[in-house]
Amino acid sequence: MKLTIIGTGYVGLVTGTCFAEIGHEVICVDNDASKVKLLQSGGIPIYEPGLQELVQKNVAAGRLSFTSSTSEAVEKSDVIFIAVPTPPQPDGSVDMSFIERVARDIAGAMTSYKIVVDKSTVPVKTGDKVAETIKRYCKAKVEFDVVSNPEFLREGFAVEDLMHPDRIVIGVRSPRPVSAMQAVYTPFNAPIIVTDINSAELIKHAANSFLALKISYINAISVLCEATGANVQEVAAGMGMDERIGRRFLNAGIGFGGSCFPKDLSAFIKIAQQIGYDFHLLKEVQRINADQMDRFTKKITDTLWVLKDKKIGVLGLAFKQNTDDVRSSPAIELCQRLLKEGATLRVHDPKAMEKAKSLLPNVTFVEDMNDVAEDCDALVVATEWDDFRKLDLEKSRKAMTHPIMFDGRNLFDPAEMERLGWMYKSVGR
Ligand SMILES: NC(=O)c1ccc[n+]([C@@H]2O[C@H](COP(=O)([O-])OP(=O)(O)OC[C@H]3O[C@@H](n4cnc5c(N)ncnc54)[C@H](O)[C@@H]3O)[C@@H](O)[C@H]2O)c1
Repeated sequence: MKLTIIGTGYVGLVTGTCFAEIGHEVICVDNDASKVKLLQSGGIPIYEPGLQELVQKNVAAGRLSFTSSTSEAVEKSDVIFIAVPTPPQPDGSVDMSFIERVARDIAGAMTSYKIVVDKSTVPVKTGDKVAETIKRYCKAKVEFDVVSNPEFLREGFAVEDLMHPDRIVIGVRSPRPVSAMQAVYTPFNAPIIVTDINSAELIKHAANSFLALKISYINAISVLCEATGANVQEVAAGMGMDERIGRRFLNAGIGFGGSCFPKDLSAFIKIAQQIGYDFHLLKEVQRINADQMDRFTKKITDTLWVLKDKKIGVLGLAFKQNTDDVRSSPAIELCQRLLKEGATLRVHDPKAMEKAKSLLPNVTFVEDMNDVAEDCDALVVATEWDDFRKLDLEKSRKAMTHPIMFDGRNLFDPAEMERLGWMYKSVGR
């Protein structure tokens, strides 16, 4: 099929590439000219395991191309996916201006029947608004369908998730676009559920809020573990073996971040409020998440006392492992808090240092994780990169003024760390 993706970011680029990989002809559009130029010249703007090879392969096969012209892409395609940002506004509600802009651009370019699919995460009832907008701005007065097809990929595992999805959700306002949407997705061999458009939009916010809730739940349990001498990892293992609960998203730490969970939670709370429901439960999820960061920072200040003129090494800047994404990263927030208290920082991340530079202008970026501890008063683990488990603990310990580690991701074994001569503080253990 001939497909267009508007917005070539984390979702758009990976989705477009995977659509090309299964045989569709895909045009990715972006209004950031430098991004399009980079992609056209063989580079990619984000780090995502396996993505670069897949982009190169499909560009070479002639199935994947990049442009900044929405009208050219719309003209050539049957199905148009919208994957532009839906950022939060100061009051937590969603800034819909990107979606509205693209709906108008598509409307202006349509000269024949098109299926317009929203892949961005949007408030329930957005599909109706998009349909109204297209109808209003489509000069050619051609027919079209609007579909909701939320995306569930995890950054860091995006290619894997796109190629092997748990499910595909297709929300429609009429049966007309269903067979074309099924044709887009059949090669992925995943269960497809067809719903009304409002349900599809709600599924995405409900799913992300639930995952955030699971993280806050185990973080709350970690507080009880710390107070009683229990071990949150053992509690999570015991809970998670119950199939009704599951072990995933039960890792205590410094809280969730990233470009999705915080904004989707605020959006869902706001959407509920506008409908007349006070979503207390999700407000509590937010509060627990914020407390978790406060508690971890306090653990550091309680131990080091005064941070002014202390040198702290920080391992991890990305909001989670396997990505270079630092948007709303708890690791960045932690660094900013430590800097505010007067500490000087030596930081390292396997992939995210470039993107962190503008957020952390006054820190030392260290290329090798084993050099971070040099002259430090403490070492902090802020992101759960698997690489950090291979840290040269002996070299790091000897390089420090005093070997103290605050492990915000529970990567090391407390008993083993003590045996190796560390003062080791983690979360909920
Ligand atoms: N990142 C994720 O893990 C993830 C997962 C699922 C859903 N989502 C949702 O998908 C949407 C996109 O997220 P993202 O992380 O890919 O964002 P992103 O910021 O990485 O990418 C969005 C892209 O859209 C482009 N853009 C903006 N306005 C445009 C326009 N008018 N025309 C053409 N291009 C335009 C931007 O230049 C940017 O490249 C959001 O609604 C997000 O909530 C994200």
